[in-house]
Amino acid sequence: MTDIAISRAIGKRAQQMIDGLAAISASPDNLTRLYLTPEHKRAAELVGDWMREAGLSVRMDAAGTMRGSLPPGRAGRSGNKSLLIGSHIDTVIDAGRYDGNFGVIAGLLAVETLKARGVALPFGLELLAFGDEEGVRFPITLTSSAIAAGIFETPTLDQTDRDGITMREALTQFGANPEAVGNEAYPADSVLGYLEVHIEQGPVLERTNAPLGVVTAIASQSRHRIRIKGEAGHAGTVPMAMRRDALVAAAELIVGIEAIAKKDRKNALVATIGQMDVLPGASNVIPAEVRFSLDVRAATDDARRDAVAAILTQARKVEAVRQVSLSFDNVLEKPYAPCGERLTAAIETATSQVMGKPAQRLLSGAGHDGLSMAHLTEYGMIFVRCRGGISHNPAEFVTVDDMGLAVEALVATILELARQEELP
Ligand code: GLV
Ligand code: MN
Ligand code: MN
Repeated sequence: MTDIAISRAIGKRAQQMIDGLAAISASPDNLTRLYLTPEHKRAAELVGDWMREAGLSVRMDAAGTMRGSLPPGRAGRSGNKSLLIGSHIDTVIDAGRYDGNFGVIAGLLAVETLKARGVALPFGLELLAFGDEEGVRFPITLTSSAIAAGIFETPTLDQTDRDGITMREALTQFGANPEAVGNEAYPADSVLGYLEVHIEQGPVLERTNAPLGVVTAIASQSRHRIRIKGEAGHAGTVPMAMRRDALVAAAELIVGIEAIAKKDRKNALVATIGQMDVLPGASNVIPAEVRFSLDVRAATDDARRDAVAAILTQARKVEAVRQVSLSFDNVLEKPYAPCGERLTAAIETATSQVMGKPAQRLLSGAGHDGLSMAHLTEYGMIFVRCRGGISHNPAEFVTVDDMGLAVEALVATILELARQEELP
């Protein structure tokens, strides 16, 4: 069981760092920090300073990811391999301050804590502060971890944000290097695994009165862009029966999508339309075109694919009945990604020890950088309770005590992996 005074002091330090990062935003009114923006750059520089203070050697990679390295402190079975620990410092629009940012800070504080306790590890540590987990600026997500894992597809560099800026241009403006993104993957035989601490972003841990949990897998996810074209017309003169209103067609489809998603609770199916543009966008013009996002997730790939197929059938019905034309483009597909059993077991041992009671295992409905890192190496995640399960919302909140315990759990996981290095 943890010494609460010690872990609380660590949690207080985490809170100060959280607040320091949260002050870096595109807006004075809320926290918004998108990939490759000037505020992302300032946050990356602050994290770089913290990494140096913790004794790491630091570099920014070609994707803008901050990488801090610590060599092994002593010989072990893994030679010069490193354990990767990371999370992200980009945010959604009007975000909470803990999502991603706390994972990076937890990694830093774990390094500091190990150092303060005089621990020499039999493997290296590599801290990563990724810049694009949220996928808010460009149509795709997890760019920076995909580059570190070696699964990035270079045509993605030509994708544009809503202002028409390509990712290639944004990387150059940021001071990163689009030409070198293909050279940034870790060699698979140089890494031991990838660990991440993240807030749960859901209500399960709070309901079960547990500060920490062990992630088993990340849910299956896809994103689509749907475009419906109808016909513009005068809002005062075209009778209701003679309209081809793209927004009303979209509304009908969206209600249908909700009904489809509600049918499969067993597989934790969820569908969200979170972004929409209505054109031409005037109160006295019948909408001619609507473009919107569709995000579908489920506990299995089959359940997610079946839901998308049902949504497409529904879309074709709306298209025929409302005399509109509809396109349905897949922009992202991430299969169900199980965590590695060795890391999951180490996390379970560590979190149970830190909490003084058995840790529970849970599925992550949210996407995380582990989805990319799973292509490179085994990954494992520690979840931290957040108030009301609220996330992607400025009301996101984690207590100082829970943050302190999460850092202790990460330290204990690293020590458990180090202990395994001693075994014959
Ligand atoms: C990231 O937060 C996601 O799951 O969309
Ligand atoms: Mn996140
Ligand atoms: Mn998020």
